[in-house]
Amino acid sequence: MAYSEKVMEHFANPRNVGELPDANGVGEVGNPKCGDIMRMYIRVEDNVIRDVSFKTFGCGAAIATSSMATELIKGKTIDEALQLTNRAVMEALDGLPPVKVHCSVLAEQAIKAAVSDYYRRLGIDPVPIVGELHDCEEESCACGGH
Ligand code: FES
Repeated sequence: MAYSEKVMEHFANPRNVGELPDANGVGEVGNPKCGDIMRMYIRVEDNVIRDVSFKTFGCGAAIATSSMATELIKGKTIDEALQLTNRAVMEALDGLPPVKVHCSVLAEQAIKAAVSDYYRRLGIDPVPIVGELHDCEEESCACGGH
C-alpha cells in the first residue's frame, strides 16, 4: 500500500514543528520497535490546548501523524485531546500502511504524555485522568502489535 496524498503532504509540510517556549506540558515517547522518538509540547489555558507543537526523530509516517495530531488537538479541551485515538489520526490522513500503524500510536501516546506532564507540574497525579501510558508491545495497545 502506498502512502496517501495527505500523509505525503503532512510529511513534506509538517504543521506545528519545533519547541514551544511557553509550553506547560511536554511529553516524550519512544517506540521500542523502531527506536523513533516523538516529543509533544502543549500550552494549556483554562483546560484548553491553546497551542501545540512537536519534534519527531522518526520515520515519515511518524512525522505525518504527529503533524496531523497537533492539528486535531489545537484549540480542543484536554478531555477532547485525550479521546483522540491513533485510528482517528490515521483516518484523518486517509489511512496508513499496516506496518506503519505503530507510528500513529506514537502520536496518540505523545499527546497523553504531554497532558500527564501538565498535570504533574500542577501536583496532580495524571494516572486516574490520563491512564497508564503503554508502548506498542502491550496487548492494550490499539495498534494490535504492529
Ligand atoms: Fe518508527 Fe514509524 S517506523 S515511528
